[in-house]
Amino acid sequence: MRAVDLADADGMDELCEYAAHVAPDILVNNAGFGGYGPFVESRPSDEVAMIATNVTALTMLAKAVLPGMLKRKAGRILNVGSTASFAPGPFAAVYAATKAYVLSLSEALAEEVSGSGVTVTCLCPGPTETGFARRASMSSTRVFKGPVADAAGVARTGYEAMMAGRRLAVPGPVNKLLVFAIRLVPRRVVAFISRRELSPVPPA
Ligand SMILES: NC(=O)c1ccc[n+]([C@@H]2O[C@H](COP(=O)([O-])OP(=O)(O)OC[C@H]3O[C@@H](n4cnc5c(N)ncnc54)[C@H](OP(=O)(O)O)[C@@H]3O)[C@@H](O)[C@H]2O)c1
Repeated sequence: MRAVDLADADGMDELCEYAAHVAPDILVNNAGFGGYGPFVESRPSDEVAMIATNVTALTMLAKAVLPGMLKRKAGRILNVGSTASFAPGPFAAVYAATKAYVLSLSEALAEEVSGSGVTVTCLCPGPTETGFARRASMSSTRVFKGPVADAAGVARTGYEAMMAGRRLAVPGPVNKLLVFAIRLVPRRVVAFISRRELSPVPPA
């Protein structure tokens, strides 16, 4: 077992070397965090760490294990995106952009390795009951004041999709409908609605 800070370049190098050496059959890229507030006010160091964790570490870990999986003609990668992967996120702009990257990378890799025995799945949950909202200072936003999914159910959906080799898993009918509707609406309207959902709920 190895525990590293994925935002730390040395820790990442060490973990990638270890991952390539142990040649796992399954890689789950779940670690990630968000942030909340106007883009011009957020601390650059927080966003550098967010990009390093959500984007760089996820990419480099996939790169470390994929050659071995392809050689063995077997392997499963599960990357955790978000419903934020599908829409811009005003006041969580960098977080939503990192999750858009996760979906794009996952879909591209899934296509690159298709037919090889290796699969890449992107799990895109909506708001879920974990430590995420508190850490991201999003607890008082509309998005986390509405229905919030149970983490075990979301994990089960991701696991089943990964084992079935599906490319995309969006847990819950409401999130599925949301993701479908986003494709039909102009991007500017999506950004406007997203801004509303990411606004704080006024105190009663
Ligand atoms: N909860 C939601 O509403 C929601 C919705 C959509 C997508 N997601 C995504 O789901 C994934 C899991 O998050 P969660 O909801 O379970 O939140 P969480 O309870 O805050 O857990 C995040 C996990 O990521 C780890 N992590 C964060 N930064 C790390 C770093 N630099 N190095 C190593 N580990 C790090 C944390 O480890 P430590 O505890 O040691 O810091 C923790 O285990 C994330 O990718 C998140 O973006 C969450």
